[in-house]
Amino acid sequence: SIFNNAEELHQAKLQHEDEEKSSEEESEETMFFCQHRFIKDSKMFQILKRPLTPLIDSSQSSSKRVPSFTISSPTKRRRVDPTKRTSVYAKACAKLQLSAVPDELPCREKQRDEIMNFLKHSIGSGGSGSGLYISGMPGTGKTATVHQVVRELHQLTEDGDLPSFDYVEINAMKLPNPYHAYSDLWRKLTGKHAAPTRACQLLGERFQKANSSRECCILLIDEMDFLLTQKQTVIYNLLDWPTRPHARLIVICIANTMDLPERLSLRVQSRLGLRRMVFSPYNQKELREIIHARLGNSIFEPKAIELCCRKVSNVSGDVRRALQISRRAAEIREEKNRPPKGSKARRTSRSSLSSSGQTKESRLVTMHDIEEAVFSLFDSPSIAFIRALRKYERVFLCCVVLQLRQLRLEEAPFEDIFDRFTTTCQSKGFQTITSRVARDIATGLEQIRLILFRYHDVDRNPSIRLNVQEDDICLGLDNDSICANLLDLNRAED
Ligand SMILES: Nc1ncnc2c1ncn2[C@@H]1O[C@H](COP(=O)(O)OP(=O)(O)OP(=O)(O)O)[C@@H](O)[C@H]1O
Ligand SMILES: [Mg+2]
Repeated sequence: SIFNNAEELHQAKLQHEDEEKSSEEESEETMFFCQHRFIKDSKMFQILKRPLTPLIDSSQSSSKRVPSFTISSPTKRRRVDPTKRTSVYAKACAKLQLSAVPDELPCREKQRDEIMNFLKHSIGSGGSGSGLYISGMPGTGKTATVHQVVRELHQLTEDGDLPSFDYVEINAMKLPNPYHAYSDLWRKLTGKHAAPTRACQLLGERFQKANSSRECCILLIDEMDFLLTQKQTVIYNLLDWPTRPHARLIVICIANTMDLPERLSLRVQSRLGLRRMVFSPYNQKELREIIHARLGNSIFEPKAIELCCRKVSNVSGDVRRALQISRRAAEIREEKNRPPKGSKARRTSRSSLSSSGQTKESRLVTMHDIEEAVFSLFDSPSIAFIRALRKYERVFLCCVVLQLRQLRLEEAPFEDIFDRFTTTCQSKGFQTITSRVARDIATGLEQIRLILFRYHDVDRNPSIRLNVQEDDICLGLDNDSICANLLDLNRAED
């Protein structure tokens, strides 16, 4: 099976493991593939649990930029129809799937209105010269919001309230290389194949010529960061074509990086008369609203959802994680409530909780289930190391994070971190320690590869950078009240 992301892969693995437990058939080899981008995320990596072998055979991996990996696992071929899983937990999991996107996205009403107004106005005025640049962290609903708006626009067209338009989408991350954006766009517009260079030429001609019978076209360029080339020609062309008088082209660019426009050359920036929109990470309250909207009458204790949303908003605000943790917690609760194998209750209670004789409370997903879910999903060796650190090591690591956050740089000089460390120790009432001892602490952290040293000059103190994701540090330290406070992990909902 080939999956687009680690989420899908994880779900498939769980299902296979279920089948494995319940089937007595002979083992057969099953391969799982997942795109590199998701696997390279250390936390997602941990989901996979089993050793990964890179696929060298180019016939298996479609491109160099998106290498695949395979996990071999002795599982069975028999498939269980997911719709046959009828427990309340399975139903909740289904509602928490990424693919179960609601028709209207909670907490994105303002952005939806803004995109809607922009597109309606652009279509109404013939399209040319219009562009919108959307940036934001992963899992903040950028793609989903644009999709919702486009669905609504199609509806308006069907109802005769808006001129009809074409809609084309390029996901740069899925292209073998940036130049294939031309071929992809040409194929989606005309249904014809052309090599990248030829497609670029044909597209240039198409958008240059006046053609009143051609409908206005909305082009969504998702994951635009992946189109960056040394000369930036692909991005230049894609932004230049809409500015031509007869192009009738409206471009919406989506990227994770907020400063992508600034990183473009002046020539490209001159084509970038785009409006900008930023999708901020979801806060705790918003995540709670999103999960409530999906679950309705919940099988979760309210405190469990609070905890899940707090943990996620503290580290990333990525709704995918909140959904993933909630699903895993529901599975854990289901497993705990499953009657022992062979018992009468097991045979009769698969679809109904009440028949298993459990109290209502014991059926609900608890805070403890959430903790277990977080642990099982994000239990990376680095988090284990961080949890095992001693007091001064933990505080020092917090100071590295805080210093880098403040500078918005990748590395900071040891002396600066030491100054912050000294002030922090004083403010927390800890005995202050010398620079030499602090250096030993840093060396200890470097030896377990939580941080890295870089020497600009052998005689001088090194600069320090993190060798693990900040999210891992936050997850590893969120049980330590002092560090949680330093890193602002228990902030109130904003
Ligand atoms: N407001 C919301 N309400 C309900 N579900 C949401 C909301 N925002 C996001 N989601 C869910 O999260 C998933 C990821 O959202 P989306 O793909 O839009 O994120 P993104 O910002 O484009 O992330 P990336 O930068 O990684 O592409 C969606 O498929 C949807 O299931
Ligand atoms: Mg997206």
